[in-house]
Amino acid sequence: MAPCEELQEEVARSGPALIVGATGYIGRFVAEACLDSGRRTFILVRPGNACPARAASVDALLRKGAFVVEGRVDGKDGKRSVETALRAHGIEVVISVMGGANILDQLGLIKAIQAAGTVKRFLPSEFGHDVDRARPVGAGLGFYEEKRRVRRAAEAAGVPYTYICCNSIAGWPYFDNMHPSEVRPPLDRFQIYGDGTVRAFFVAGTDIGKFTVKAAYDARSVNKAVHFRPACNLLSTNEMACLWESKIGRTLPRVTLSKEELLAMAAEDIIPESIVASLTHDIFINGCQTNFGIDGSRDIEISSLYPDIPFRTIDECFDDYARGLHLEEEAEESKKSNAPMVEILAVYPTCA
Ligand SMILES: NC(=O)c1ccc[n+]([C@@H]2O[C@H](COP(=O)([O-])OP(=O)(O)OC[C@H]3O[C@@H](n4cnc5c(N)ncnc54)[C@H](OP(=O)(O)O)[C@@H]3O)[C@@H](O)[C@H]2O)c1
Repeated sequence: MAPCEELQEEVARSGPALIVGATGYIGRFVAEACLDSGRRTFILVRPGNACPARAASVDALLRKGAFVVEGRVDGKDGKRSVETALRAHGIEVVISVMGGANILDQLGLIKAIQAAGTVKRFLPSEFGHDVDRARPVGAGLGFYEEKRRVRRAAEAAGVPYTYICCNSIAGWPYFDNMHPSEVRPPLDRFQIYGDGTVRAFFVAGTDIGKFTVKAAYDARSVNKAVHFRPACNLLSTNEMACLWESKIGRTLPRVTLSKEELLAMAAEDIIPESIVASLTHDIFINGCQTNFGIDGSRDIEISSLYPDIPFRTIDECFDDYARGLHLEEEAEESKKSNAPMVEILAVYPTCA
């Protein structure tokens, strides 16, 4: 059988997935990737949120073939309704992409999974660092303690799990923005953390989605932490700054944000900014993404599972941002020159 046919057969054999948090920042990448993989994909949508952006996300996923399950995972009724939905649809994989403010709501989700008895794999909302290893200080610590609590609950429940440690999303690592890839890299000045030499892994959002879904259905990742360490995307903030300058054709000033300044922000307890500052400190001062080896028994590196599937490079992602920027500049120029208007559509970075 040809490899492509084998893959199709494997997808056809694999059971449906439920994505919890599909309307969120990371969730949309995961939900889209699951749909692209050809699997039956259910998305849990909380009732009563009339935000237009969220409605548009749900519509886009419906158009791609998602099935909506209305419900929420918190509260007694929530737990019961999710349990019913898991059983009714024979859900085998649950991927939670719930946001930072709702991490502990997953405790109800785990109870629902345990009670339903259909789920063969649970991926809690991780999508960052290895929370058992990393030691952020300030606001980030409380956040990691909640994620650790969810890990322990999944393990105690005996639900097979996979922890996705995908490191940083590709984009300029703004120290005060939770969704950095939605903002283009700076055009005025770079904020460089410490001496700017500590490296981190930057992974395109589309790759986070794609490899998460692969790992969720892969027997080799059961009860393991899966680390995303694409060698092509390991850069320091100094290297990121030079790369972006090469795309925009000019140099920008560097402003240093010291370890002490990041720590002071992390200690302020302004949520979520202090959490982001705390994690920025852990990444670019402590080197939390690179200061440990992957031992093999409870850990696995994603490229060792799929050596032939390339990652989008940060270079390609920065090309997207630069393209969007040039289109905006051209639109501005044509407005100024009163030239007959040809509508130019901004292209947003597909990596973000
Ligand atoms: N590696 C990185 O660079 C990076 C960056 C950002 C986030 N992350 C991580 O990715 C994960 C997701 O964060 P995010 O920023 O993508 O989250 P987000 O944008 O805030 O989205 C959260 C999603 O969870 C849903 N949700 C929340 N509570 C729920 C409940 N009780 N029942 C059902 N649905 C619920 C929300 O639904 P509504 O639409 O109803 O609100 C929304 O769809 C987190 O673990 C975060 O730490 C990683």
